[in-house]
Amino acid sequence: MSVQHIIEVGQFCDPALRESLLGRAAEFAAMPLQDYPSPLASNTVATLFYEPSTRTRLSFETAAQNLGAHIVSTENAGDYSSASKGETLEDTIRTLEGYAQTIVLRHKDDDSAQRASKVAAVPIVNAGAGKGEHPTQALLDLYTINEAKGGPEGLRVGFVGDLKHGRTVHSLVTLLREFSGVEVVGIAPECLAMPEAYKRPGDKYYDDLATAIPTLDVIYMTRVQDERITDETVRTEYQASADRFVLDAGLMRRAKEDAIVMHPLPRVGEITPDVDDDPRAIYFKQAHNGLFVRMALLEWVMGGAA
Ligand code: NCD
Repeated sequence: MSVQHIIEVGQFCDPALRESLLGRAAEFAAMPLQDYPSPLASNTVATLFYEPSTRTRLSFETAAQNLGAHIVSTENAGDYSSASKGETLEDTIRTLEGYAQTIVLRHKDDDSAQRASKVAAVPIVNAGAGKGEHPTQALLDLYTINEAKGGPEGLRVGFVGDLKHGRTVHSLVTLLREFSGVEVVGIAPECLAMPEAYKRPGDKYYDDLATAIPTLDVIYMTRVQDERITDETVRTEYQASADRFVLDAGLMRRAKEDAIVMHPLPRVGEITPDVDDDPRAIYFKQAHNGLFVRMALLEWVMGGAA
């Protein structure tokens, strides 16, 4: 039997698979903790993170433990694993698959999950690959949109912030193209604009949030991925216009009454804390949903349902 990896969001463009995973996540969300099954008992999940993470790593680890698995984990693998001695990703994967039945990987290279899957005999789960893909985040984002709005069809979805480097934006935008009537709105300074590859005719692009906000159904905020910016002129340029992409309680007064505010988190100032108590702000709920979606995903790749 071939190994079931999770490499790219395109895999969730299969409606039957997507619906089955989302349905299973909803079952987990409704289940009391003590009723969780243990399909992963005696299995080990390895979390191999070469880039920082709070939500993704901890939700995967909690998800694995909720289903009975053990965890082996390395964070900052670039600094604290043998990568610091020059070991290749491929060799690390070949080693880890001797210890774990699934490897959840985050790495700075866009093709990292792909490369890992070429050598791995166990499932690789892409938990963020460079600027390119963050498929499990896109699925939990979709789960959250479904829960709050009944589905993405016909919604006007505004992506705000760093649309150039944001892998959560790239994966979610790709997934949303599958649904009819979704209008994509990009709101970013020019130096952080949506790459051409993700644009489609009919999209709208703005360079300030105040103008765009009254028409949006989903306000998907993102932080600037400062660690991926190597050009100082880009840094100076985005910093000069940063105020135009900050969401605060004042701006929320211009948003639709039934809009929702999402953010993959972490935020670093682009949503002020006075927005947090607004019932339209659902970013912490979104992070919580990640747990149930990742339980469904681990159950699937480790040989279970879906
Ligand atoms: C994001 C990521 O790592 O891509 N966070 C996450 O996984 N929830 C967003 C970010 O780092 O800005």
